[in-house]
Amino acid sequence: MCGIIGYIGEKPAMPILIDGLRRLEYRGYDSAGVAVMEDTIALHKTVGRIADLERVVPPVSSGTMGIAHTRWATHGGVTEENAHPHMSMDQSIAVVHNGIIENAGNLRQRLIETGIEFRSETDTEVIVHLISREIEAGRTPLEAVRRTLMLLRGTWGVAVMIHGYDEVICARNGSPLVIGIGEGEMYISSDPHPLSSHTSRVIFLDDGDIAVISRSGVETHRTDGPTDHMIVTIEDQWGDSDMGDYPHFMLKEIHEQPEAIRQCISGRTLVSEGNARLGGLSLSAKRLRLLPHVRLIGCGTALYAAQVGRLAIEHLARVPSFAHVASEFRNNDPVIDSKAVYFAVSQSGETADTLAAVKAIQAKDAEVMGVINVVASSIARQCGQGVYIHSGPEQAVASTKAFTNMVAALNLFALQIGRARDMPRTTGRTMVKALRALPDQVQSVIEDKAPYSAAVELLKDAKSVLFLGRGFSAPVASEGALKLMEIAYIPCLAYPAGEMKHGPIALLEEGSPVVVIAPDDVHRDKTISNIEECKARGARIILIHTEGDVIAEHGDVCFTIPSTEESLSPMLSVVPLQLLAYYTGLALDRDVDRPRNLAKSVTVE
Ligand code: F6R
Repeated sequence: MCGIIGYIGEKPAMPILIDGLRRLEYRGYDSAGVAVMEDTIALHKTVGRIADLERVVPPVSSGTMGIAHTRWATHGGVTEENAHPHMSMDQSIAVVHNGIIENAGNLRQRLIETGIEFRSETDTEVIVHLISREIEAGRTPLEAVRRTLMLLRGTWGVAVMIHGYDEVICARNGSPLVIGIGEGEMYISSDPHPLSSHTSRVIFLDDGDIAVISRSGVETHRTDGPTDHMIVTIEDQWGDSDMGDYPHFMLKEIHEQPEAIRQCISGRTLVSEGNARLGGLSLSAKRLRLLPHVRLIGCGTALYAAQVGRLAIEHLARVPSFAHVASEFRNNDPVIDSKAVYFAVSQSGETADTLAAVKAIQAKDAEVMGVINVVASSIARQCGQGVYIHSGPEQAVASTKAFTNMVAALNLFALQIGRARDMPRTTGRTMVKALRALPDQVQSVIEDKAPYSAAVELLKDAKSVLFLGRGFSAPVASEGALKLMEIAYIPCLAYPAGEMKHGPIALLEEGSPVVVIAPDDVHRDKTISNIEECKARGARIILIHTEGDVIAEHGDVCFTIPSTEESLSPMLSVVPLQLLAYYTGLALDRDVDRPRNLAKSVTVE
């Protein structure tokens, strides 16, 4: 989704900004632009990729201050006019903005009435004209930005550059901004990752902060005056983040799952006690014993991992648990019980709906723990405690290894709470053993010479694909459908298998592909009946099942997974589904790492 990068220092800004934009590419975008302070502000924008932007920027640019942006369209189509930066009418002010200005319509109307001519359809453009009005009235850049922000309703991470002033003004409200501190130079980014090659010393702006950034330092302000800020040292979590020998990040990340799971469970299981210890959770055994319920919140893949997690908590600990779509939960006036535990599940730690839900829960005096991949991300910092899932960088837009690690982390929590309650030590030991066996088991599924091409043949020209599963496999069906839909652009529907006969069965006709996830668990026999109901209507069954199970005779194309504990089976059964989506996407010539219209970090509500 939208990304911001900025620089002020001694070096030419343009190459630094372009490199920063490249590092933001993984978030997903549809247009990009850059503004560099030369004698006047030099502006370059384009629809498409950063490579397209590079073709329109001059080969040499001497300006040492600039701001740049990748845009993911919200208000207004994908056009060059709508790409950021946006400029004031006299071209003396440039603005880049992440987030949404909710009252842009009214403000726009009022500005038009004063003679302002808008060049774009964006909500952002009101910001630059409002700042321009304040500068014309003789205010300082800080005052002009502060007064403008007071008129806005919505969310922003914003960076402003004004001709004649050797500073960049930034502000944050609901959309992250990080300032990187160098020697005689400063960087601005919506995401810490692009800063890692320049500096490890950063300031995370808080909501309501305004920062005045010059070559020599940063001043931070709130609406009522100056405020302190904290410089923190961050590690580069991305390390070697290129594709290596893999053709795509998605395939690389699927293959990284065994190692990622090892990282997630390492040091967190206690073999002889048959327990787990999640050091980032400040939950005493007494509190765990008295929990009335657990609620987990997330979006997309994180939501499906949360659904597995909630089943694991009920199954292993017998504590009522619920998984919620973050945007719905937050806006449905939820009843919050401060004795309960809330989990925010997110790979990026930046998802706006999840972050908003966290704040809504905290506002009602309950604690939220993060189940997060990106260290020091907005949700991780907002929660203040939680479990890092340690998947390593996930750059393909479609989430893969984060799902398996979210499920692993939530199983660890389920084990910990179960052992604090009535789970016998022997059951705990069995769980620990099964968790520790998972990396090798996932490896074996990845390496299995399974019939992917036969399954792709069934899927690639399908009008729609139905995914079915029961129990722990119902959220896996949802995740498999999401993966295939987003990578291959095939309409997919996921249903708990027992619910299929109440509607989706109407879709089935001769040759319709149905993907069934049926490991050897308590639901297996009932799922066989559902398979037969589908086959009776001409459906072709792609079946994920446990090795050696005679259920194989019910499938047309079969994929096997090793046997494991019920609550861990999603970490195995999801792997063939990820690979199926990947290979089907390839067969249809899709951009598997950057599927159309999607963003990695969804920072709008
Ligand atoms: C699907 C996908 C999205 C994300 C969702 C939440 O492959 O990537 O559905 O899972 O946008 O993102 P995070 O986990 O970053 O909160």
